[in-house]
Amino acid sequence: MAENDFIVSKTDLKGRITYANRIFMQMAQRPESELLNIQHNIIRHPDMPRGVFRFLWDTLKQNEEFFGFVKNLCANGDYYWVFANITPDYGFDGQVKGYYSVRRKPPESAIQAVTPLYKEMLAIEQRAGPKEGPGKSIDYLQQFLADNNTSYRDLVLNLYKN
Ligand SMILES: Cc1cc2nc3c(=O)[nH]c(=O)nc-3n(C[C@H](O)[C@H](O)[C@H](O)COP(=O)(O)O)c2cc1C
Repeated sequence: MAENDFIVSKTDLKGRITYANRIFMQMAQRPESELLNIQHNIIRHPDMPRGVFRFLWDTLKQNEEFFGFVKNLCANGDYYWVFANITPDYGFDGQVKGYYSVRRKPPESAIQAVTPLYKEMLAIEQRAGPKEGPGKSIDYLQQFLADNNTSYRDLVLNLYKN
């Protein structure tokens, strides 16, 4: 990603893409026709632990915003890292009608910090299988946060700022 780029997308309540900006299309290497109405996991990279996405959805379901570092997949198999902020998208009636995500280029130091954490979470998931895996990898993440005397939000925001 370029320093001043913003990747933007919107989804419905199920995570199906309803809007993608041009930079999204360029980075994903997909035209709008391959993105609209498609599940956002179309750009999911296999190195990403499921626990991170479970945590993301749990956060959104509580009507809270999520911050995180995400490795995404391009159509040709390449990848790009983003610093993502995902928020509920409210209609005029005050009801959540979908979700909204804005991503910026993450600092290299943050990528270096989360890569081993995600690797360990992925290894835990692979050992535990698809049913138990995400819960177990979230347990590992919570323990990591406790050991470092921090919260998920503080960890991520500090990694972004530093
Ligand atoms: C607004 C919004 C943006 C999202 N952005 C991404 C993203 O950039 N990359 C990604 O892999 N998943 C993203 N997700 C999460 C996906 O919906 C999905 O949960 C994830 O890719 C894991 O796929 P799975 O649930 O099929 O395992 C986003 C979800 C929402 C609601």
